[in-house]
Amino acid sequence: MKALFEVVTSSIGKKLLMGVSGVLLVAFITVHMLGNLQIFLGGHALNQYAHFLKISPELLWGFRLAMAGIIAVHVIVALALTVESFGARPKDYEKERNAASLASRTMIVSGLVILLFVGYHILHFTAHLTNPEFDALLDADSKPDVYRMVIEGFSNPWVSLVYVVGVLLLSWHLSHGVSSMMQSLGLRNRRSACLIDGAAVVFAVVVFVGMASVPAAVYFKLIF
Ligand code: HEM
Repeated sequence: MKALFEVVTSSIGKKLLMGVSGVLLVAFITVHMLGNLQIFLGGHALNQYAHFLKISPELLWGFRLAMAGIIAVHVIVALALTVESFGARPKDYEKERNAASLASRTMIVSGLVILLFVGYHILHFTAHLTNPEFDALLDADSKPDVYRMVIEGFSNPWVSLVYVVGVLLLSWHLSHGVSSMMQSLGLRNRRSACLIDGAAVVFAVVVFVGMASVPAAVYFKLIF
């Protein structure tokens, strides 16, 4: 147990934890975005998909606990690495800092704001604490009408704006985070750096367009 703790808290252990938790979060974001895009196939498709995800309460809660654990590891290790980097600034720190991209220098801030956004998002669409009237939205099979909930949720332009800003920050975070994740896993070297950095930016743009297209489509009345 002590040996495991030492490995996990070592510099390499922390990088590995950031890399692995990053891969799992990127996988979740990709699957969630593809799931959300089913709204463009109509209410039946989205609701069927949402019901399928909740078919087994054990699996659903197992997944939720695993996600909470992955997010906790990602945030705690990121905070630890940030505190460490403040404590051990190299002499030419200013030079290095200026060379780093703005996205890389603001990772901890964008990450913490995304955490707040996810908290709001869960209170909004999962727990319905912000909108208890969502509980009453049922489809023809008397199951939760997730399609109607999303349309009604985004019919408030201020709520849509919060989501667009939230996913913009997420994309900003990913534009550097994916490169950093590959570096932590030892998959980014001098030869592959350019390709990986480019792919990270493309992925970030795809996530922004895929996620923001839902509130945008409600705003422009493309779906109703
Ligand atoms: C415009 C963008 C988004 C839309 C339309 C959306 C839609 C939804 C909906 C409808 C649910 C509830 C599903 C249900 O009750 O069946 C949900 C849950 C969730 N979303 Fe999103 N989402 C968006 C962005 C995000 C982002 C950016 C993240 C994370 C970075 C995220 C993370 C989650 C999580 C963690 C849950 C809870 C899953 C659970 O029920 O345990 N979502 N989302």
